[in-house]
Amino acid sequence: MKRKIITTKDGSKTIHIEDWNEQYHSTHGAIQEAKHVFLKHGLAFKLSEIENTSNPSLSILEIGFGTGLNALLTFLESQKHHIPIAYTGVEAYPVSLDEISELNYAELLSTNQEEQTIFKQMHTCVWEKPCFLSKEFSLTKVKMFFKDITFNNQFDVIYFDAFGSRVQPELWEVPIFKRMYKALKNKGVLVTYSAKGSARRAMQEVGFQVEKLPGPPGKREMLRAIK
Ligand SMILES: C[S@@+](CC[C@H](N)C(=O)[O-])C[C@H]1O[C@@H](n2cnc3c(N)ncnc32)[C@H](O)[C@@H]1O
Repeated sequence: MKRKIITTKDGSKTIHIEDWNEQYHSTHGAIQEAKHVFLKHGLAFKLSEIENTSNPSLSILEIGFGTGLNALLTFLESQKHHIPIAYTGVEAYPVSLDEISELNYAELLSTNQEEQTIFKQMHTCVWEKPCFLSKEFSLTKVKMFFKDITFNNQFDVIYFDAFGSRVQPELWEVPIFKRMYKALKNKGVLVTYSAKGSARRAMQEVGFQVEKLPGPPGKREMLRAIK
């Protein structure tokens, strides 16, 4: 499919898929959206729950590793909080290194040279094995289709960042959310930018408690589902 790099309203770039008229991120701001949906309502929400426990740590599953923006933002948070994070990104169609080199996330998010190189390392490190990017943060990239996920009781947080249901409706239905529910630990949290009624009902049908939250700029609502 024909793709091109575009600049979103907060100055951060994203990938536009011309045949689908779909982006990897919101055109209102890629970084802004990722921080709001995944970092604030997913990561920070769960961190506030565990921060005062003894030996806190987190395991995160990303549905659609894509450009690695969510992984980079989560890495930067792990450095601030000194909480070990095991991050697993599932992706069937990895983004090419040429495209990655055109994305400006590392430059916008950090002035620290070492942190900037982490973004590149995320894309050059091996698949299917943990890459230790710092003392606190490991990244495991898994090349597979979402429908084949069989993780069991393993994750505290899921960043559910599939393309929208307009273009991939099958990713927002009961069979996928059953797999997400099983992948989470008890009280685990799934967050997504979508607030679509049919997706919310599918989540409820598999057992999630679902709440609507205010969305990022340009989007009225988003969903958070708790196991
Ligand atoms: C909205 S984009 C990902 C955004 C990503 N989180 C980021 O920040 O760049 C959705 C991703 O899901 C991947 N994808 C689409 N269908 C898939 C499938 N059936 N199984 C696995 N990955 C899939 C796409 O290649 C794409 O990278």
